[in-house]
Amino acid sequence: MATSVFQETVRQFVLSKEQVQKIIDGLTEELVEGLSTTDPKNITQQPSYITRLPTGKETGLYLAIDMGGTNLRTAAVHLLGDGQVGVTMEKHEITHELKTGTGEAMFDWIADCTASLLKNVALDMGNADLHMGVTFSFALHQTAINRGKVLAMGKGFDLSDVMGHDLKDLMEGGFRRKGVPVVVSAIINDTVGTLVSHAYVSPSTKIGVILATGTNAAYIERASDVSKYTGPACDQMILNTEWDAMGKASYLPQTKYDKEIDAVSLVPGFQEFEKMVSGLYMGELVRLTLVDLIERRGILEVLDGKVPESLKDRLVFKTLFMSTIESDSSADHSAIDRVFKTSFDIEGLTSEDRAHIFELIHTVGKRSAVMTAAACAALLQKASGASVNLDNANEITTIGIDGSVFEKYPHFAHKMMEAMTDILGKDRASRVRLELARDGGCIGAALVAMVAQSGGAV
Ligand code: GLC
Repeated sequence: MATSVFQETVRQFVLSKEQVQKIIDGLTEELVEGLSTTDPKNITQQPSYITRLPTGKETGLYLAIDMGGTNLRTAAVHLLGDGQVGVTMEKHEITHELKTGTGEAMFDWIADCTASLLKNVALDMGNADLHMGVTFSFALHQTAINRGKVLAMGKGFDLSDVMGHDLKDLMEGGFRRKGVPVVVSAIINDTVGTLVSHAYVSPSTKIGVILATGTNAAYIERASDVSKYTGPACDQMILNTEWDAMGKASYLPQTKYDKEIDAVSLVPGFQEFEKMVSGLYMGELVRLTLVDLIERRGILEVLDGKVPESLKDRLVFKTLFMSTIESDSSADHSAIDRVFKTSFDIEGLTSEDRAHIFELIHTVGKRSAVMTAAACAALLQKASGASVNLDNANEITTIGIDGSVFEKYPHFAHKMMEAMTDILGKDRASRVRLELARDGGCIGAALVAMVAQSGGAV
């Protein structure tokens, strides 16, 4: 009985070929719709105003900031040519207090962090202002290479006086108040940073993906297809898809646990695709499923149907626990005992419990890899004939992927590649490379600041 309750529950996370195809078709439709929509509620397919990728030969010194969901990184980036960079980087945690305070306090703090970097690298340009590229891991409506209005901020941010304001004004306001001599020359989404910086080292890169707390992607599109773009003429442009915010109930295979995550989130109905895929939510999906299974006596009989307090709070089951458990190759999955004892004070697991917990975690992790592969396939399809040609046996298309889930989750790349092969077929999939992209934020921002000054942007 317990086993059948378990199997019937876990099966909901296994996607059939038809379900995967529906996701690809649904996302493709949204990618197309995003190119022309003027609905302010639709934040997808944002033009970046960047019209070319770096060649790898660029040189110069630029400042960079990478503002993510967890950390702020400040960097001095020396572009050395030949795809080489020298980076001095500092990392600061963005506290809950900062995330939920005023915009002014946030941007004053960013200016302080920048001042600390300048002091530590002893950068003094005399009277000249330093040029900075900014990577922002949130949705922006860009109106120029260095201008963009903040559209929405998930990831636990609730800042006053920021939404709808221009990021360059917000940042430079902080610099002015703190007397820091910096101008913002470029603003990019983190996926654009990943695409640009990975192209610097791997010129066949046509797509940049982030798979971390959140997930999103950028690619190169024909400008003539982007009918909502009203800026200066150009042939092609990098678009920030904001695929996180895509996903309709009609094609997303949401379980009741997915729906629960959405219902209790800060913004229900927002970022439905991301909520099924990214690192912030995977562990929570496992927790909600475990709680339900415990109550229905489908697992952990030792608890007698009672959910322990330690498992009751949102987000306590970290995606990191999933990685730890899947990394353990021992036959009896002993890492599960350790995680459950140390982090949740739960003991007395049977070997069947361990096998079930492992299967649940593996299945939720694999669903994330398959859904990301489906989204990449939709993008490859949309870009084909323009920046991508998978039918040419001599052409490789590289997807640069940054983020803890892709980097640290065991076998994630392999699971994605398996799914890509199922979707695209062996030949076409063999022309796609999934490569780990690192530090795209700061290096990408510095490269775009350079591209902006040398006419690679409109
Ligand atoms: C969220 C943000 C998006 C960002 C992604 C990855 O989905 O909306 O802009 O690229 O997280 O960090």
